Amino acid sequence: MAAPTVSLAEKFQIPVVGLGTWQCDNEEELENSLNAALECGYRHIDTAFLYRNEHVVGRVIKQWISNGKLTREQLFVTTKLPSEALQPDLVESYLKKQLESLQLAYVDLYLIHFPIGMKPRKTPTEPLEPIPTDHVAVWKKFEEQVDQGRTRTIGISNFNIKQIERILKIARIKPASLQVENHVFLQQNDLVKYAQDNGIVVVGYSPLGSPGIAKFFQKLNIEPKKVPSILDNETVKRIGQKYGKSPAQIALKFLLQRGIVVIPKSVTETRLKQNIDLFDFLLDENDLVDLRALDVGEEARVCDFSFISSFKTHPEWPFTE
Ligand SMILES: NC(=O)c1ccc[n+]([C@@H]2O[C@H](COP(=O)([O-])OP(=O)(O)OC[C@H]3O[C@@H](n4cnc5c(N)ncnc54)[C@H](OP(=O)(O)O)[C@@H]3O)[C@@H](O)[C@H]2O)c1
Repeated sequence: MAAPTVSLAEKFQIPVVGLGTWQCDNEEELENSLNAALECGYRHIDTAFLYRNEHVVGRVIKQWISNGKLTREQLFVTTKLPSEALQPDLVESYLKKQLESLQLAYVDLYLIHFPIGMKPRKTPTEPLEPIPTDHVAVWKKFEEQVDQGRTRTIGISNFNIKQIERILKIARIKPASLQVENHVFLQQNDLVKYAQDNGIVVVGYSPLGSPGIAKFFQKLNIEPKKVPSILDNETVKRIGQKYGKSPAQIALKFLLQRGIVVIPKSVTETRLKQNIDLFDFLLDENDLVDLRALDVGEEARVCDFSFISSFKTHPEWPFTE
């Protein structure tokens, strides 16, 4: 069964459950997981230039459309402009290149991936070098991409309130969506409220607390940040037992009931099914109170980008301690 949708930028609809694809660099595995996800009703896919898998997403979508199982209009595809292209004169060429990889004429949502720009690198081993970043000039180019039909809506990711405010002040086309880390341990109530009050749909990334993130840090030879497991949390497990649902389903449902769209990643068929099977129960007020109490704030941030050490001292560093 497909997930319900919510209104986006007043004109469009975004399914409230999407498939995350970060750390899906094994093509066959991703292809299988995309096929399984589409079979079990996912109609929203989240990718990014940085994930290096847009071509796989594109290949699978093309097969589904050309064999008549889906139309383009039934799908919602998000991708993101990487930090290495966070300059006004690079926006259009990157989006065109990304559309080519995705084999699409347009995406549904194009996001600024992170508020700090960095110098494009010729090889992946070159050090990452942050550069001054002009969000307003980049946003103007984003608006042109809507005008030219390359994306239906535009948005931001990992921006804080001050940074969103700056965009809202000058925007001819408002950000339709804000994608930020969000889960029971990092609820970001002020940021979520600010976005929702301004008609911006919040998409919560790492909604399960990204239990597979250690693999990413291992690849970079960095000691992973120690964060508690949401899926092993006693409160989450107890509430799961009450409804006959898994801890992952409780963690996702909590975000949905806060009006947050979720994009859990999985390459495991049983989990894919679980993560979209969220619409036959409602958490009651007592459960919501208990889950709200699990918020520990910034220290629970899993995906804090501080592994790029030069980002932390950049004036546009978005996270507070
Ligand atoms: N904008 C940004 O800067 C940003 C940053 C991070 C993430 N994102 C997006 O958000 C998506 C989701 O975040 P994420 O990948 O960091 O983390 P996540 O969705 O919170 O967690 C994914 C991990 O949980 C496991 N998992 C999935 N469903 C499960 C279930 N029902 N029970 C137990 N384990 C389960 C997955 O394992 P298997 O795959 O092995 O099943 C995977 O290791 C990303 O894939 C990406 O699209 C965006």
